[in-house]
Amino acid sequence: MPGFELFGDAEKKEVLDVLDSGILMRYGFDSLRNGHYKAKDLESEINKRFNVKYSQLTSSGTSAITMALAVSGIGSGDEVIIPSFTFVASFEAIIMIGAVPVVVDIDESLTLDIESVENAITDKTKAIMPVHMCGSMADMDALKRISNKYSLILIEDACQAIGGTYKGKPLGTIGDLGCFSFDFVKTITCGEGGVVVTNNKEFALKLDNFSDHGHDHIGSDRGAELHPYIGYNFRISELNAAVGLAQFRRIDEFLNIQKLNYTIIKNNLEGIKNITFRNIPSGGIESYSFLNFFLEDIAIAREVIKSFALSGIDSCFHYFDNNWHYIRNWNHLKQIKSLYPLSDDLNKGLSNLKDKDFSKSDNFIGRNISCLIKLSWSKEEVNRRAKVMENCIKNVINS
Ligand SMILES: Cc1ncc(COP(=O)(O)O)c(C=O)c1O
Repeated sequence: MPGFELFGDAEKKEVLDVLDSGILMRYGFDSLRNGHYKAKDLESEINKRFNVKYSQLTSSGTSAITMALAVSGIGSGDEVIIPSFTFVASFEAIIMIGAVPVVVDIDESLTLDIESVENAITDKTKAIMPVHMCGSMADMDALKRISNKYSLILIEDACQAIGGTYKGKPLGTIGDLGCFSFDFVKTITCGEGGVVVTNNKEFALKLDNFSDHGHDHIGSDRGAELHPYIGYNFRISELNAAVGLAQFRRIDEFLNIQKLNYTIIKNNLEGIKNITFRNIPSGGIESYSFLNFFLEDIAIAREVIKSFALSGIDSCFHYFDNNWHYIRNWNHLKQIKSLYPLSDDLNKGLSNLKDKDFSKSDNFIGRNISCLIKLSWSKEEVNRRAKVMENCIKNVINS
């Protein structure tokens, strides 16, 4: 991550195609658009690459998750299980459709702890949403088994993990629906954008309609189209799709760089006593978007992160103290700071979060440091960085 570091002629060409025609909307205006359908083209390239039947581009990863929930028929009072380590979009999307986010512990994979998932299931549970944080996955076989056993929808948030695989399948294509983000800091960027992928025809049709005010997209007169149900505007623009199309065609180039840079740094850190790496479930291959490792305790992790900052090592995060990605600092959620009234079910569900014990997650996130892998580093830069990181960690451990 992130693909914007390597913007070039391919991205410019696709954007200029759109500007030349002047048609920035993905639907309609067929006679004016010089045959350019960037969003449609990107969707078919995503289908081909991920071996899925359907994909629906959206305005963001957050709207992708919201749509995946909505087309699954999840709504008021239903419960959706998510991990304690994720991006705020997970609970925002669930709350937006009136459902209740049920936050559970993670394990050393930094994703859903299987036992905690099973313990959280009630008769209101409708879906499990694993989040493939920092490029790697939960035990997807176990989650599939649990979803089948309790007839739950499995929605993968693969927003940070494009290119990762599990038992040969691309992350995002294992559950009923998978969501990706193409925001500005993702491996593949549209500037802003996202996509939902699925093999379910009924979901696909609903995604298409729902993302565009419920339009049925039948015929060629937009004004005469019918609205089989209430939708919303989660459309992507042609300009954003054009950037994404050029970036998506470069996915292997980006993933290869990511893996190379990750491997150089990991090889350097591997020899250090007392550091361990996140657990990758058997059969899983990371996207290599982040390198995650654990120190012995929180105090050491805090000292290492300080030492990284003083030594010019940017883009490494101690999520325990960061307020975006871990439950510990989500005070706005725990205090239910909503701008508008929420249902009784939601208020009740959210009020449980304040006092819930997340000591299991604290143990992993407290000791974890997560380092973004950039695409623009030169080989010398990665090698230098790896050496500096190694020295910082050794100095802290030995002090
Ligand atoms: C795990 C995860 N889910 C969802 C999102 C939301 O994506 P977007 O920023 O495109 O709305 C992000 C964005 O950072 C993310 O990291």
